[in-house]
Amino acid sequence: MNTREMKRILVTGAVGQIGSELTLELRRKYGADNVVATGRKTPPSEALKNSGPFYFIDVNQRESIVEVVKKHDIDTIYHMAAILSVVGEQNPQLAWHVNMDGLYMVLEVAREFNMARVIVPSSIAAFGPETPRDRTPNDTILKPRTMYGVTKVAGELLGDYYFRKYGLDCRGLRYPGIISHETLPGGGTTDYAVAIYYEAVKQQRYACFVREDTRLPMMYMPDCIKATIDLAEAEPGKLKHHCDFNVGAMSFSAGELAASIRKHIPGFTCTYQPDFRQQIADSWPMSLDDTAAREEWGWKPAYDLEAMTRDMLDVLGRRHREGGL
Ligand code: SER
Repeated sequence: MNTREMKRILVTGAVGQIGSELTLELRRKYGADNVVATGRKTPPSEALKNSGPFYFIDVNQRESIVEVVKKHDIDTIYHMAAILSVVGEQNPQLAWHVNMDGLYMVLEVAREFNMARVIVPSSIAAFGPETPRDRTPNDTILKPRTMYGVTKVAGELLGDYYFRKYGLDCRGLRYPGIISHETLPGGGTTDYAVAIYYEAVKQQRYACFVREDTRLPMMYMPDCIKATIDLAEAEPGKLKHHCDFNVGAMSFSAGELAASIRKHIPGFTCTYQPDFRQQIADSWPMSLDDTAAREEWGWKPAYDLEAMTRDMLDVLGRRHREGGL
């Protein structure tokens, strides 16, 4: 296997929900100039724009990636650019193009340039209705029904293939729904678990697009960033899995989420108006068995539902009072 060190990092999808916060943390850790942010949109936050290099690239255009890789002597890619589940169902062709063709392009560039590591994110969407839904095992049935899920399973297999065939050190997590207060998620099924906090703070009510009893695995952004970097830095010899780690943190129903908010905002009301996204949510796990992540690289989450709700309402409440929501 390649033994280059991870020193000069490129993040694709750096303007997205995870990419925007991941980039800032990587810059804190590795030095601002060593972490190159790339995306298709203008960075929304000044922090991201002003804290280090940024380039517009299209992950489907080989030359646009290669140019940045050469210029900054990149040895590690965090490939966060992706189309999420809901947008993917609205435009499956686009989801395939960005998630599969884009990943293939990134892996090929990484192989050609003999890179140290590529982070290839996966998702709970890799599972499907035939998968056991309670404490879903790491190694189980992967028969998703969404195009997003299809690209995630294929992406896990492709990353593992590049590892075995070419010694390219690819690693990835199956992210649960990610909850955060900096950048909004872009068209996923788990977006209700973010929107509910914003609406609770702004107008004390929310119309949720899944049923009250819908239970999904979720994670707060600080844990998501920690998990991503911890896996990227894990000792290669200890890993038995590569691109397909379950990572659990918490698991709650939409009703339990609303109740946790009501403890802080007693007048908060939540109504439930399930739409087409319900079917997607019903095909995903309710909770995850993440023993492999715990054993192979020491995964341990810090936030549960109560701690996350306190923090989310704190940050968003302050921003709302200052007129920034
Ligand atoms: N948050 C994602 C989605 O809902 C799941 O990985 O599509």
